[in-house]
Amino acid sequence: MIDVIQDGDHGVDDALATLLLAAHPDVRIAAVGSVHGNTGAESAAANAIQVLDVAGLTAVPVAVGARRPLAQPVHLSTLVHGEDGLGGAAQTPDRRPVDASAAEQLVRLARAEPGRYTLVATGPLTNVALALLLEPALPRLLDRIVVMGGALDVPGNITPVAEANIAHDPEAADLVLTCGADVTLVPLDTTMATWLGRTELARIAAASDPRARFATRILAHYLDFYAAHGRDGCPLHDESAAALTVSPGLGRYVEVPLRVELRGADTRGMLVADRRVGATPDTPPVRVATGADRDGVVDLLLAGLLDRDAP
Ligand code: BDR
Ligand code: CA
Repeated sequence: MIDVIQDGDHGVDDALATLLLAAHPDVRIAAVGSVHGNTGAESAAANAIQVLDVAGLTAVPVAVGARRPLAQPVHLSTLVHGEDGLGGAAQTPDRRPVDASAAEQLVRLARAEPGRYTLVATGPLTNVALALLLEPALPRLLDRIVVMGGALDVPGNITPVAEANIAHDPEAADLVLTCGADVTLVPLDTTMATWLGRTELARIAAASDPRARFATRILAHYLDFYAAHGRDGCPLHDESAAALTVSPGLGRYVEVPLRVELRGADTRGMLVADRRVGATPDTPPVRVATGADRDGVVDLLLAGLLDRDAP
């Protein structure tokens, strides 16, 4: 069993990642934390509650996390995910987030059962960095951390070189990627090549499963965004991170020490991979997914949205 804590900026793909994890027979979602990013931290928490409730996980606690990055003004990706983070489909949930912050919740769970939890981070890494500051032993207390973020050998999506989850809090990302935990990074190199196409979207749209109907509602605005950029369908960013959490064998990986560029006027938020031969970098390597079995990821997502007996 994989005991997962998801920390996300619950926009469209974070929500679909939650549904993928929720449906997987080997996963138990223990808690969710929200963070600024696609929308504000409060809206992201409300969205996380909404999607957990759609999945039938009405008892999973959700904690509101950081409302802003560590060292720069907040910037929300509402153009891609809509003002509410779910393309206009967000509803006020019946239950409230818990009183603790997302970082406090993460530290409390990790301390209570060392080695038990896998952290799946699908948003900016502010909460995880705060948790590392609260509990420096966190890397040893977590089983592993899977992060969606970064761009290694492909362009960024916020700047020419920076991906959103890293660019929205570069200082936090640098802390997490160098913390010494067992970290798997799932960057745009993998997620932009893991595309949800017209055929699968039609299947989801035709399904009567409440999870598929919810997915169709939240995907409309997101798909319009990609259509406006001449793309049919959408990438599976956070869903790929969720899929590689439950089935690491779907990915191809390199192990490389990473830093985040923090000072460049044009390069802030860029990943710097130390691929020198024979160098002895002072930061431990991170496992970076350079690609994934696209059909395998899509199958896991569809299993989270469609009734097992659906055609
Ligand atoms: C990442 O940024 C967010 O907009 C998505 O939810 C995903 O986590 C992709 O760059
Ligand atoms: Ca996200």
